[in-house]
Amino acid sequence: MSEMQPVKIAPSILSADFSNLGREIADVERGGCDVIHVDVMDGHFVPNLTLGAPVVKSIRKTTQLPMDVHLMIDEPIRFVEDFKKAGTDWLTVHVEACRDLPGTLDAIRKAGMKTGMSLRPGTSVEALEPYLDQLELVLVMTVEPGFGGQSFMADQLEKVRWLRKRFQGMISVDGGVNAQTAHEVRTAGADILVAGTAVFGQTDRAAAIRGLRG
Ligand code: DX5
Ligand code: ZN
Repeated sequence: MSEMQPVKIAPSILSADFSNLGREIADVERGGCDVIHVDVMDGHFVPNLTLGAPVVKSIRKTTQLPMDVHLMIDEPIRFVEDFKKAGTDWLTVHVEACRDLPGTLDAIRKAGMKTGMSLRPGTSVEALEPYLDQLELVLVMTVEPGFGGQSFMADQLEKVRWLRKRFQGMISVDGGVNAQTAHEVRTAGADILVAGTAVFGQTDRAAAIRGLRG
């Protein structure tokens, strides 16, 4: 991605009102966001449970926006087909969660989705190096994956700067991104800002999204 492109904003529905998901998504779409970020957790890779492909399928009917599905689950290769059928555009898996990383990325690509990889704060960004040319998105976690509403870990931005020099695809930053931290995330070279609390936790979502763009 060129650094000249405007940053994309991807609200994470983890902080939305799940009983009104269609309306919540319509609200951020009207508010000018670019991508819908969906956090899938299995209660094993991370200590929390969220939702799966059936919910993604329902969301797909409510929006034209690209959906970026962040899988925080063990052995995500098992669910690649399900998420494709549900209408996922970008499928992101964790480097720590796959026994067969090249096979998992292959399966995502062959299913017709864009390949994404994420890493926990404690994982070195060099772990992604062998896969960079097979990836279209890297999702840098700036909180420990599992929950919304945590504090931003600024030291993780070093990974964004490292990637910016070596990686041609999109760099996304996820966790604790808000009106205060967004500036340093953009400056580090991120293409996409994921934000849950900082968008869905606000009454005026359009203003929240503008605030993240800077
Ligand atoms: C955390 C998720 C994030 C989360 C971000 O594991 O991957 O997408 O929703 O939430 P905030 O923006 O509230 O930190
Ligand atoms: Zn996420």
